[in-house]
Amino acid sequence: MKRKNIEISREELDRQLEIIARVRDINSARSDQPLAFVDTYGCQQNEADSEKLRGMLSEMGYGFTRSEKEADVIVINTCAVREHAEMRVFGNIGALTHTKRAKPDQIIALCGCMAQRPGVAERVKRSFRHVDLVFGPHVLWQFPQFLYEILSKRKRIFSTEDSDGVIAEGIPALRDGGVKAWLSIMYGCNNFCSYCIVPYVRGRERSRRPELIIEDAKKLIADGAKDITLLGQNVNSYGKDLEENIDFSEIIKRVNDLEGDFLIRFMTSHPKDAGDKLFETIANCEKAAHHIHLPFQAGNDRILKVMNRHYNREEYLRLIESARRYIPDVVLTSDVIVGFPGETDEEFEDTLSLIEQVRFDSLFTFIYSPRPGTPAAEMPDPFTREQKQVRFDKLLDLQNRISSEKHASYVGSTRRVLVDGLTNDEIYPLSSRTNGGRLVHLSGDKSLVGSYVDAEIIDSNTWALYGKCR
Ligand code: SAH
Ligand code: SF4
Ligand code: F3S
Repeated sequence: MKRKNIEISREELDRQLEIIARVRDINSARSDQPLAFVDTYGCQQNEADSEKLRGMLSEMGYGFTRSEKEADVIVINTCAVREHAEMRVFGNIGALTHTKRAKPDQIIALCGCMAQRPGVAERVKRSFRHVDLVFGPHVLWQFPQFLYEILSKRKRIFSTEDSDGVIAEGIPALRDGGVKAWLSIMYGCNNFCSYCIVPYVRGRERSRRPELIIEDAKKLIADGAKDITLLGQNVNSYGKDLEENIDFSEIIKRVNDLEGDFLIRFMTSHPKDAGDKLFETIANCEKAAHHIHLPFQAGNDRILKVMNRHYNREEYLRLIESARRYIPDVVLTSDVIVGFPGETDEEFEDTLSLIEQVRFDSLFTFIYSPRPGTPAAEMPDPFTREQKQVRFDKLLDLQNRISSEKHASYVGSTRRVLVDGLTNDEIYPLSSRTNGGRLVHLSGDKSLVGSYVDAEIIDSNTWALYGKCR
């Protein structure tokens, strides 16, 4: 199947570059450098988008701050996956009336997944009159033009039209210079899990061209990246929409073949299309980290079916078995939802027993949050928040016990870790990650940030390991 032309044309992107130059001229006429603050909520795709927002802002002459008071431009890059995250954003933009009063020229922009949700732009237009700009993920590449129009005409802009999504290549990105890097290989999602808002706000699955992914990977490596995460809502679908016959395993192989000392990770793979080929590729590619994040969401077959996940408990368990056969030391992490509409206590017990059976290294745990417009939000939900909280606490207790047992088994061993940052701890001033992605607080010299070291693991708890450099 030939895909529709979803790539933004060179001419359109060049026009944005021209506008970037115009804004840079406006800003360089000022006596002081204007500052921008990009605040990011949500997942790694949003982190990657924020790197592009910062890249465009930097090219337009902005410096950066984390102070809302100081900022000339505030961009809030939002997440819509759960209600709680949205409430926080509304709270935060409400508080910005004060900064805007003190600094009337301040430009406040709201973007990301929440901006794309029906009704949100209208609400902001009506009730948050100090917000100048609302734009969805599909028009991120037009940010320079929006900013230019606001600077030159002082009008409010709302751009959140529904779309299946586009691919805009060549947008400048600004990383924080660390060893960890994000690399988007595809965008969007076709799965429509019944609880999830992502497909509605991020459009359909679309893969970037492999040669552009490899070009970006080379740049990241040259820029000092040593831990590269390939991003997509479901990376196993990579390539299905391309004319070229290529899949996700092939992308791992091509990145693995690049020169350099770095690790390859990926987020997220959906169990319905994970399998032996992927596990074998990870086992055979020496740069592929021995870590798989494989969200299971629920352990009960009826719930998995109404969630529209396209696998059952047994199939999931078989996958885990196969992953461990190919990669015996694989670190397994997952996402789980507690309190899906109508989930009974017995069905929840199946989630607990699956966790016992798999023994994940760690879990991201969520209480179900109804998202308007998704099928699950229409399903009867007889259980109270309190009942769900009791289950949630029980699940956390179980996983915390497993995580702490798993971590304890590292004590006494020596692991090669990548030192990725500093902490505030005097005894353990370094933070680092094992190949499997476990956090190691490390004693050692600050100059080690950015390098691989052999760490002797001397202590552990539920959340982390503690080590010293050998
Ligand atoms: N594409 C990824 C998940 C992206 S969202 C995947 O399918 O694996 C990250 C996680 O948020 C999901 O795995 C799910 O556990 C959780 N989540 C999504 N929608 C939710 C909702 N409505 N309520 C609670 N948790 C939700
Ligand atoms: Fe949401 Fe499911 Fe798509 Fe993940 S695979 S983003 S949970 S719809
Ligand atoms: Fe949130 Fe959008 Fe990511 S909804 S989880 S920021 S794709």
